[in-house]
Amino acid sequence: MEILLFDSPDDVARVGADIVERAVRRPAGAVLGLATGTSPLGIYRELIRRHRDDGLSFASTRAFLLDEYVGLARDHPASYARFIESEFVGQVDFAPGAADGPNGTAADLVAECERYEAAIAAAGGIDVQLLGIGADGHIGFNEPGSSLGSRTRIKTLTAKTRADNARFFSSSPDDVPRHVLTQGVGTISRAGHLVLVALGKAKAAPIALAVEGPVTAMVPASALQLHPHVTVLLDTAAASRLRLIDYYRETQAGKPPWQVP
Ligand code: F6R
Repeated sequence: MEILLFDSPDDVARVGADIVERAVRRPAGAVLGLATGTSPLGIYRELIRRHRDDGLSFASTRAFLLDEYVGLARDHPASYARFIESEFVGQVDFAPGAADGPNGTAADLVAECERYEAAIAAAGGIDVQLLGIGADGHIGFNEPGSSLGSRTRIKTLTAKTRADNARFFSSSPDDVPRHVLTQGVGTISRAGHLVLVALGKAKAAPIALAVEGPVTAMVPASALQLHPHVTVLLDTAAASRLRLIDYYRETQAGKPPWQVP
């Protein structure tokens, strides 16, 4: 697991966008795993800028979202399908239908989860998976107690996550759906490269647990410790509770120029 620390969210966004750009520029094209929420927004904005200014093309790229609320149609203002369309996919040149997400309004949600797993597998798996982390250590919407081997399925959100996400809804946490479809921890763990982004002091405690605590279903992000290729991009506030912070800084400062994340 590589831990990289930056003074500003702009630097986090630049390095995150570098990782995505390298994958997207591969001749075979890339399959991206996209997170919603605030953490990856800087990366998306930097990729949109590179598309407009530098001609970075996503025409051969496919994408899979991490999760979706049950009961929200894709065109609902708070749906994750709508979020990713307006914040990233719709602002660059993905081919029509190249970005898929779990359908939270499917008549048969269990069948929809199976369809989604099969679609990811048929695309050859995810090359680069962007991740945020919840205050309770969730990745995707895998709340504490999620099986570390889980696949895409229906989950119930904790009250804390619903309160945290109420900002995307018009009024109170009561408007946030209780149920979601989410890639499982096991699904996420099959991606080739996991890129976890965390910004701000509120993420310091879950980052410390995920990176330096025991691997446990109580902190689903701790499963990243078992993955062979993980990059954790942090601002100084999110990194502030890491015990080995001086070591991470020293390692980062001594990186040879050819060694990219
Ligand atoms: C979103 C997702 C969640 C968020 C996490 C952090 O698709 O899967 O795990 O990444 O809740 O959210 P932000 O970035 O808004 O703090």
